[in-house]
Amino acid sequence: MAYGKTESKNESVKDTGLEQVIIMLREDLIGELEAINQYQAHIDKIDNDEVRGLLEHIRDDEKEHVAEITHLLARIDVIQREKFAEDHTVAPEERVVNESSHDDEKVATIGNMFGKK
Ligand SMILES: [Fe+2]
Repeated sequence: MAYGKTESKNESVKDTGLEQVIIMLREDLIGELEAINQYQAHIDKIDNDEVRGLLEHIRDDEKEHVAEITHLLARIDVIQREKFAEDHTVAPEERVVNESSHDDEKVATIGNMFGKK
C-alpha cells in the first residue's frame, strides 16, 4: 500500500514497518492541522476571554505537535527531508527572509509574506 489508512481494522497494531510508521505520522499530522483549524474557528466565535485564552493555548500546543511530527517525518522520510531542505514556495530572489535581513526581520509572518509590516 502506497498511502492511506490500513485496509483492515484487524491488521496487527505491531505492523510498524517504516513505511507504515510514515503513513501513520502523516495521518497524525492531518489530525493536528485539523485540530488547529477547529480551535481557531471556535476561538473566533467565542466571546469569553478566559475560554478563548485557554483555547488559544491549546491551539498553540497543536501547532507545536505539527512541528514535532513534521520534524520526526523529516528524520525518517529521506525524500521529505530533502524537500524540507529547500524553500519551494517562491524564487530565492523573491523571498521575504534573506541573508541580508536583520535578525528581527528574518521571521516570516503572514503580514510580511504579503508585503505588510
Ligand atoms: Fe495535538
